[in-house]
Amino acid sequence: MADSSSEAPASADAPPRLRTLRSFVRREGRLTDGQRRALESRLAARAWPEGAVNPWTITGRHAPLSLEIGAGDGENVVALAAARPDEDFIACEVHGPGVGHLLLKAESLHLTNLWVAQRDVNDVLAGLPEGALSTVYMFFPDPWPKARHHKRRLFQPPLLAALARVVVRHGHLWAATDSEDYARWMLEAAASAPDWRNLAGAGRAGPRLRRRIVTKFERRAVNDARQIFDFGFSRA
Ligand SMILES: C[S@@+](CC[C@H](N)C(=O)[O-])C[C@H]1O[C@@H](n2cnc3c(N)ncnc32)[C@H](O)[C@@H]1O
Repeated sequence: MADSSSEAPASADAPPRLRTLRSFVRREGRLTDGQRRALESRLAARAWPEGAVNPWTITGRHAPLSLEIGAGDGENVVALAAARPDEDFIACEVHGPGVGHLLLKAESLHLTNLWVAQRDVNDVLAGLPEGALSTVYMFFPDPWPKARHHKRRLFQPPLLAALARVVVRHGHLWAATDSEDYARWMLEAAASAPDWRNLAGAGRAGPRLRRRIVTKFERRAVNDARQIFDFGFSRA
């Protein structure tokens, strides 16, 4: 899988400008009335605070804490939080309608172990102490297919280094993509990240994570006959 046909990922000591490039464009999209109400009345109670935080004072307990990056409509993180009441979860997503959808779902299930960070994941990571997270999920990050946009891809050495700081030793990073080019890119980026060990062996995609549910996004990819690539990494 690991060939050099794609543009090389930025190195971990890339110039700061690269790191400030956004992996998303602000597109508010259309909010349903329910989503708007959820954002107005429900977000504050579940908002993961900005700036440096002690996670245990937010969650009120010393339970394993996981983060989903780019949670979209929140299908996975909501299902995980519902299935694992003894663990805590942060859903990070910038897109308003997605956050609204996620809040409605979390409220309908009366989840008390799910927080929402509606901002760039880099800001969330910067505010967490070392070893705060046990698991990170990153399913179908935007592939930015054009070569000139590759630098906007989230899965890059700087993000892997930021994740290595906040994920506990032997913790996990689970990722998936429907882009073969991005799959190669991920493997290249991971190969140059000394803190992460590919559970399937260097240069290989792994089996599907059994607890990863099929989202609207994945369903569309499968309907379009795109192959899905799954990856699991362990914090060395
Ligand atoms: C293609 S969607 C995948 C959504 C979901 N994970 C799924 O599997 O259905 C990627 C999501 O990542 C979000 N995203 C992109 N860059 C982000 C960032 N820097 N911080 C937080 N979310 C981000 C986008 O808004 C988008 O909703």
